[in-house]
Amino acid sequence: MPRGIEAGTLASVHRTYARTAAFALLTALASAPACGGSDSDAGEAAPAGPVRPPPRPTAEQEARASALLTGPDWYRHAVFYEVNVRSFQDSNGDGIGDLNGLVSRLDYLKGLGVDALWLMPIMPSPFADSGYDVADYRAIDPAYGTMADFERLLGEAKARGMRVLIDLVLNHTSDAHPWFQESRKDKTNPKANWYVWSDTPSRADIGCGTNGSTFGDSAWELEPAREQYYFHRFYPGQPDLNYREPAVAKEMLDTTRFWLDKGVDGFRCDVVGLLYETATSCSLVPETVDYIKSIRQIVDTYPDRAIVAEPVELTNSTPYFGGGKDMFHMAFDFAYGYFWGIAFASGDRRIIEDAMNTASAFPEGAQGALVIGSHDVLRAWQSAGTDPERYRGAALLQMTMRGTPFIYYGEEVALRPGAATPIDVRDTARTPMTWTRDGAGHGFTTATPWLPFGEAPAETSVEAEDADPDSMLSFYRSLLAFRRGHPVWATGASRFVPIDDRGIVAFVREDDEESYLVAVNLASEPREGTAPSALTGSGRVVLGAGSLAVGEVVTVKLPANGYAVFQLRP
Ligand code: NOJ
Ligand code: CA
Repeated sequence: MPRGIEAGTLASVHRTYARTAAFALLTALASAPACGGSDSDAGEAAPAGPVRPPPRPTAEQEARASALLTGPDWYRHAVFYEVNVRSFQDSNGDGIGDLNGLVSRLDYLKGLGVDALWLMPIMPSPFADSGYDVADYRAIDPAYGTMADFERLLGEAKARGMRVLIDLVLNHTSDAHPWFQESRKDKTNPKANWYVWSDTPSRADIGCGTNGSTFGDSAWELEPAREQYYFHRFYPGQPDLNYREPAVAKEMLDTTRFWLDKGVDGFRCDVVGLLYETATSCSLVPETVDYIKSIRQIVDTYPDRAIVAEPVELTNSTPYFGGGKDMFHMAFDFAYGYFWGIAFASGDRRIIEDAMNTASAFPEGAQGALVIGSHDVLRAWQSAGTDPERYRGAALLQMTMRGTPFIYYGEEVALRPGAATPIDVRDTARTPMTWTRDGAGHGFTTATPWLPFGEAPAETSVEAEDADPDSMLSFYRSLLAFRRGHPVWATGASRFVPIDDRGIVAFVREDDEESYLVAVNLASEPREGTAPSALTGSGRVVLGAGSLAVGEVVTVKLPANGYAVFQLRP
């Protein structure tokens, strides 16, 4: 449990992250004025204006980046981008984003500095949970295109040196899946045991069985035809598969092979800790660990593939890495990713400090996946309390902490939340991209978009932000250009610097070639702090604004909500 978060808050956010209450809670915490945390007096504002790296990497950086992105460790050096295909770009005028639309925006993503995509579910789905209810594991939802369109996307991405991961929803299917349609009929059909059935709305061998649903009160739903209840960790339209049935376990391994054979570069594995249940636990029980290891063995038979876990736990993804090479290549770090807004709102770094300490104990070979938002939580704009400087500070941390950054689509233009919630409140963070200032469809579609745009669609359009050197898009471009081709950010050592002011996050990143100190001021007033850390070097600001004095004691000075990267070596 990170310090600085009320007991029970994390658990309740996780249980109910789809509900208004969790969103409201995070909104309130994120928009509170910054306060406290300081053990020292406020310093003066650093006078210098911010240093902005050039918007494009040099040819030398590009050459180094392409070497780093070649071979089995590519995912450590990549910048990922989570695409909600449905909301990214419509190509056929039906108001729904699709694969051909995404292909038409690959050059934009390449220009931003993106190396790899994670596509939210694209398989056929009745859309009871935005595609996380799959009705066919070996096809493409016609709303997004055809299998040929998908293959074209893989080819076009490859031609640009980009990789593609798809979302793999292993824990549950849609209730419209033919397997469930058969299973629900009676107790004797060939698929009778493919789902988790019980005569009562509970089962002694399932420890999370009664109130275990993330999206409702009971995890059991009555199926009148069978006169039995089925288990669902999410919506009732998402029955849990029974992995204790060998045919299920085999079928899903075959599914991974199917997509690897197609040429995907890996998978983002949805709530993968939940596959097996026991009487005492439903999260990453030994059978689930073994199953993940068999997925990894399959993945390892294909060259240069990578898998990223969506942990069930929000504070520590360490168990998803196993020994470092036998489970996941990457796992999301939600302790930072979903709670940074609270650190900024309270002006207290401890949530971030704890996340960094946890990551520093990952086994050799493990790589954290760093986010500041996703399709499941508030738009980063809200987490930042609508303060662009906090937003930039959070993005800077994401891009400079040890790990692999995953940008959620639209984050680079600070996409604002929407108001419509056809599925649930998470739709507020799933609105269409806005590409142009003008036009009812803002370049996303020529029709009515499937979901209305978020707030300020013209202001947050790529066109408007492209033209403004101070925009969020310009910031992201230069931030990604800054780190490009420098392995220190992906894999360099990370050392926390304990500044005596808890409003300042500071850490050193270093490898054989270079060394930097990164500092972010969480507070809304200028801050100065010291730490008894022996550091040497020039302390020249290479990004942001502030000052650094090195020696036996380090002194950092930052403007209100300011951030800086100081170069120590070479
Ligand atoms: C996690 C996904 O990120 C979320 O959107 C979904 O609702 C649940 N898993 C269930 O699949
Ligand atoms: Ca379309």
